[in-house]
Amino acid sequence: MIRLRSLLKLYDGRPILRGLDLQVDAGEFVFLTGPSGAGKTTLLKMLYGAERPTEGEVWVAHRRVDALKHRELPMLRRKIGVIFQDFKLLSHRTVLENITFVLRFHGLSSREAHKRAYQVLRRLGLHHRQSALPEVLSGGEQQRVAIARALAYQPRLILADEPTGNLDADLAAELLSLLCDINYQGATVIVATHDHSLLEALPARTLVLGHGRIEYDGSWPP
Ligand SMILES: Nc1ncnc2c1ncn2[C@@H]1O[C@H](COP(=O)(O)OP(=O)(O)O)[C@@H](O)[C@H]1O
Ligand SMILES: [Mg+2]
Repeated sequence: MIRLRSLLKLYDGRPILRGLDLQVDAGEFVFLTGPSGAGKTTLLKMLYGAERPTEGEVWVAHRRVDALKHRELPMLRRKIGVIFQDFKLLSHRTVLENITFVLRFHGLSSREAHKRAYQVLRRLGLHHRQSALPEVLSGGEQQRVAIARALAYQPRLILADEPTGNLDADLAAELLSLLCDINYQGATVIVATHDHSLLEALPARTLVLGHGRIEYDGSWPP
């Protein structure tokens, strides 16, 4: 599903990632951890085509992402569900519309989009909020809407960047179990987190990023 070759990333001449090689197979669940500033977000952004490597190759679902033209990116992103820290909801649309909007963009009929959006909201315990505007929701609820939005299209690859950052322990556990279910159904899942309690909650392949390299790749705890 993912292959990185000699991936080098400089920001303003400063090396953030110094020649990474990595393979993640379809259906894997992988934690990406390491201290703040290690380059976790940068790495996810390159998988998603939001940043380009300075050198090296990024392959996702048999496509070379770093060579895609701008207009080819939406095609890639249709395969990827992204749960980012700085999620942006459409402020003038309801919770339900925030999700149907994306599904419609991906080509679903209005009816199918509504059905799917409602299902995923139910699963995240948010269906009673479907008609609310984002501004009246708590931070945790808003984050769950962003998660619902990422999952609604049933992507084959899920990239989650500190997805439990704004959630309390119960909701964090719930989210993790949801990601597990989705992984069990066949999706590849990558969760970037600096929260070690998350790593301990679920036995999974864990990559530790540090000093621009993958310093550890294996089960957790080491
Ligand atoms: N757009 C950018 N321009 C310059 N430096 C950046 C940019 N984005 C991130 N960085 C720097 O790259 C390093 C890695 O950042 P990031 O990938 O966000 O780390 P992490 O997600 O592991 O906390 C940090 O030192 C950060 O300041
Ligand atoms: Mg980050």
